[in-house]
Amino acid sequence: MKLDQPIGVFDSGVGGLTVAREIWRQMPRESLLYFGDTGRVPYGGRPPEEIIRFSRQIIPFLMDEGAKLVVVACNTSSALALPHIRGEFSVPIVGLIEPGAGAALVASRNGKIGMLATEGTVKSGAYQKAVEDGGMQAYAQACPALVPLIEAGQVGSPEIHAALEGYLEPLRSAGADTVLLACTHYPFLEREIRAIMGPGVKLVDPAERVVARAREILTAGGLLNTGARGEDRFYVSGDPGDFQKVGSRLLGTVLPGCSKAVLDESGRRFFVPAEGEMKWSKKL
Ligand code: DGL
Repeated sequence: MKLDQPIGVFDSGVGGLTVAREIWRQMPRESLLYFGDTGRVPYGGRPPEEIIRFSRQIIPFLMDEGAKLVVVACNTSSALALPHIRGEFSVPIVGLIEPGAGAALVASRNGKIGMLATEGTVKSGAYQKAVEDGGMQAYAQACPALVPLIEAGQVGSPEIHAALEGYLEPLRSAGADTVLLACTHYPFLEREIRAIMGPGVKLVDPAERVVARAREILTAGGLLNTGARGEDRFYVSGDPGDFQKVGSRLLGTVLPGCSKAVLDESGRRFFVPAEGEMKWSKKL
């Protein structure tokens, strides 16, 4: 393993960029290898078997492209797939659930933690269990309308505002003093959520802790990059132009060019159409 190998990051779409920006902040020498599964977004309403299958395609792709560690920058995959696949790969894999729940448990004063997440994450019960094991109460709200609107570049739209009003109402009625943003797309809505919930409610984004955890693992393994920073690389299974446009707008910075990578359904083969040409990778 070489120190200048990238950190692999994946999500269903642009949500993982909220984790990517935290990697850039905490580990400025590390380069990123990002996969956004925009051809199959949203993940939130998909059955667990499908989410597991997708992770089993994406992680080998990231490894084959040189990832020295993988951050699962998707709560749905962290909740539904990670417990089943964690031991299958030879690189460290970090997920969001423990870091996210841990941050919320520290933030809450009244012991009532609200969480906004996808249907899949809510149904998994993973965050509720972690919060309840920490001695606090969890109020989980599924928000199926949000990810498609964010992917469509609708942040700031009346539709998002109306959806948030509805999703946040039960958390306000429950008296939650903390709201966990348990989907990596939602930190892009932080300003709007704050405006609806008011200044007394803390918002928790798991990204800071999950990246701190990745940093600890790399440090312990002697794998933090000490030399020159490599290039960031972005791949998506959908339209690269859409991803670059929406992602750049959300981050407020121009993302580098993005390539298309369609992962093979049948196993661990994949192909990367580059410059109009189909190139088959080796069978892993
Ligand atoms: N951003 C992902 C998450 O954290 C997935 C959202 C989706 O595709 O539904 O759960």
